Amino acid sequence: MRVAGRASNKGCDLNRQSYLEVAEVELQVVADLGALGKAAAHQFTTLATSAIKNMGQFTVALSGGDTPRTLFSHLASGAGEAIDWSSVHVFWGDERHVPPMDTASNYRLAKECLLDAVQIPRANIHRIRSEEAAKEAARVYEAELRQFFDLAAGTWPRFDLVLLGLGDDGHTASLFPGMAALRERDHLAVSTFVPQTNAERITMTYPVINAASCVLVLVSGASKAAVVEAVLNNPPHLDELPMQGVHPRDGQLVWLLDVSAAGSINFSKPALE
Ligand code: 6PG
Repeated sequence: MRVAGRASNKGCDLNRQSYLEVAEVELQVVADLGALGKAAAHQFTTLATSAIKNMGQFTVALSGGDTPRTLFSHLASGAGEAIDWSSVHVFWGDERHVPPMDTASNYRLAKECLLDAVQIPRANIHRIRSEEAAKEAARVYEAELRQFFDLAAGTWPRFDLVLLGLGDDGHTASLFPGMAALRERDHLAVSTFVPQTNAERITMTYPVINAASCVLVLVSGASKAAVVEAVLNNPPHLDELPMQGVHPRDGQLVWLLDVSAAGSINFSKPALE
């Protein structure tokens, strides 16, 4: 089941527009985690084949955590066959400050669930050098972004697709509540100690995420229903709910949820697809 539509938040004070309205979030709800992976793989493949046809390459920043596993497995087991992986460049929205083959590494997850199964050249895999000191890893990653996208000073890379997850505290990438990184508007990537995880992280900053052509947020499970409702139905306060700082300036923002995560969100005009 796929229901596309915009959630209604009738009765809200029009002066306190919800994030859902401010960011013009496009909601898509599917039955379960498997269907979410299938739908995400379809969107990934559609964007990739179009970008490669029109621009000669497809640039994507992968998300971390567990939810992307289902997307990766669908792409690795058939859905990604239509993609010319030699023209795909993979980056990451964030990384834990662990060695690349650590079980907590977002790179390792993508390598084992997707990248080892497709014909993507090693040179097209732009991992965050998380085995370095965190600050150095962020500096090197920012330099690689600037070099790859051939950025002039004060400009931002425009990814074809940025994938994001949603933490139950409203974080996304490694942008957590109360962090100084939420205010970063000069650097493309920063390192930061995250008290919530008692560890260092390297993360892309809002200006990079919000420069994307498409941001696809994948959320699954009943444990996320409360934070989904809090993020979508309240006015943006990114310090408390960092996901509310995601608002592409000139791009699509799509939330792909399973029914469990969608919880109490109701649609004004559900259209069964
Ligand atoms: C990370 C992610 C993080 C993740 C959310 C959701 O490195 O952990 O970038 O932002 O997307 O925490 O994680 P789950 O998909 O595991 O719920």
